[in-house]
Formats: sequence, structure tokens, C-alpha cells
Amino acid sequence: MDTLKWRENALFLIDQTLLPRQKVIIECKTYKDVAKAIKEMNVRGAPAIGVTAAYGMVLGAFEYDGDDKEAFFDYLNDVGDVIKGTRPTAVNLFWAVDRILNRADEVRDKDITSIKIVLEEEANRMAREDIDTNRCMGHYGAQLLKDGDTVLTHCNAGALATVDYGTALGVIRAAVEEGKNISVFADETRPYLQGARLTAWELMEDNIPVTLITDNMAGYVMKKGLINAVIVGADRIAANGDVANKIGTYSVAVLAKENNIPFYVAAPISTLDLDIKAGDDIPIEERSSMEVTHICGVPIAPEGVKVMNPAFDVTPNKYITGIITEEGVIYPPYNKNLQKVGKK
Ligand code: MRU
Repeated sequence: MDTLKWRENALFLIDQTLLPRQKVIIECKTYKDVAKAIKEMNVRGAPAIGVTAAYGMVLGAFEYDGDDKEAFFDYLNDVGDVIKGTRPTAVNLFWAVDRILNRADEVRDKDITSIKIVLEEEANRMAREDIDTNRCMGHYGAQLLKDGDTVLTHCNAGALATVDYGTALGVIRAAVEEGKNISVFADETRPYLQGARLTAWELMEDNIPVTLITDNMAGYVMKKGLINAVIVGADRIAANGDVANKIGTYSVAVLAKENNIPFYVAAPISTLDLDIKAGDDIPIEERSSMEVTHICGVPIAPEGVKVMNPAFDVTPNKYITGIITEEGVIYPPYNKNLQKVGKK
């Protein structure tokens, strides 16, 4: 998958707003291009946003053409603030910008040209690590699935939401690579339709059997006994194991509990935010009302109707059977067990 590629001092992204009808690659030549792509969701999904943000920092560093080192560091901080201002919920964005800023600080004694090269190497390392992490998560998560299982997923936590392979879909891919027959039910994920547009497309490209349902069908298919496990991604996980993920995840988790179906979250350690004690403190992005009143540009609601459009919700830890990370599956009590896996 070409979710994001760094080539000759530019970042190339699949424009996810146009999938699956068109596969268009957009080129980001400046940090402002990157900030715009994150804000407008040309690139989305917590890990993909993180690595994109890291390359945004590199572009920002390359754009500085002075020779005053103090001014260079001030400028880099300003670039970081712009990139951090794009979307509030996925902690990977903040983690990635801070990792680049910290790396710059570590090599502060070098000349500006050398610092820029170090930052480019760091972003490339983050991109490689993301794929390795997903494969590790896939390996651990696949042990939770049996041959013949059907997994329900919400939103898109696949190759398109990461540099490649995916988190929740990475677990499914790993199980399939182990020779298990796994089928997927994909919630369409209103209002932005990541499930219908991206998850369904991505799985079909890989010949993994997928059935698309609208979000309000999840309870029906669970009660019918069609689902063996739910696996979703995460945008931020609080110290107590509460998980912020795409709006609608909470409802799916409650339904899973009611139907005795295990509910797993697959997320890299970079998605943990141990500074946040509980989910209520996670900032939730509110997006444009147009996403609710329109589908693909066509109005579906009376003009002027009052709208609420939170892009994420928080699933309380009591609904979460386990959190699949690159260091293994973490089980409750999360307050204690998440502390053991620190951020790199
Ligand atoms: O608004 P989005 O599309 O960026 O939201 C994405 C999600 O909620 C994903 O489930 C989450 O980022 C995990 S992606 C591996």
C-alpha cells in the first residue's frame, strides 16, 4: 500500500478522501501542505497521521534556509505547533512531533544541515518501525483468532491508517498468513464512511472475505451468532485502559459485551497516553456539520438543522477484553498492566 511515501524531499500520500472511486496520489512539498493533508483527512488513522506529522517536521526543517541555530530551533517549534494544531484526538500526532523535536535537541551541537539529515533519518526510522510494530501486533493478535472466525471491525484500522499492514486489519492479515480462514464484517462508519470506503476496499484488494453492513446492523449480526470477535484500532488510550476511537466504537463494545463476544483493541504503544488518567480527559474532535447533513456532497437533511458531529468516542475499559500491542496482549487490570509497557 502506498499510504505514505517519502521520496526526494517530498511526501506522497494516497488521497483517502477519494477512495475507492479514484486512487490519486498527492504531493506535499512543505510542512503546510502536510498540515493541510492531515486536517482535511487526505491522510487519516492515528499511526499514519503520526508518521506523516514526522515528515511534516522534516519538510519544515528543510524549509529553513537561515544559518542562525537558535532561530532554527524556534522555527522548528513553531512548525511543531502548526502540525499539532491539525487534529486533537490521535495522540500519535503529538508523540511524533515531540519525537522529532527531541531528536533535534539531542544533536543540537551539529550544524543545521547535519541536523536536517538526522531528522530525515529519524522520520524514515519511524516509518519502518510502524510496519514492524504492526507485524508484531499482528502476530500476537492472530493467536486470539481461530480458523473459520468472523471478525467485526469499525472504521479503518488497516494499511491505509498506518504506513502499511494495519493494526486491527494487521491482526486479520497475520491470521490469514498463518493459514486461517478469517472473514470480516465491516461497519460502514458514518459519517465519514471509513469502513465502507476504505476497509471494504482494502480487504477486497487482499482477497480477504468482507461483508459490509451499516452501523445499526452490528447488534443484529452479533445476536445472530455471526461474529466471533470484534477488533478495532485506537486513537488514544488512557492510563486506565479507556480507549478513544472512531465514533460508534463505544456502541459496538456495549453490544459485544451483551452478546458475550470478545472485544479487542489493536494499537501500538505510541497510542498510549499514560499522562491521561481516564477517557473523559481525552480531547474529542468535533468536525464539520456537513459530514452529517451530506453524503458525498448530496444533502440528506433539512437545511439549517442543528447537528452534532463528534469524530470519536470513548469506550470504558470494562468493555475491553484485551489490548493488542507490539509487546503482547495486555489484559485487565489496565491501570497496572499498561504502566509496564512504556513509550519508546
Ligand atoms: O478520523 P480518522 O479516520 O482518522 O479515525 C481513525 C480511527 O478512528 C482509527 O480507528 C484509529 O485511528 C486507529 S487506526 C490504526
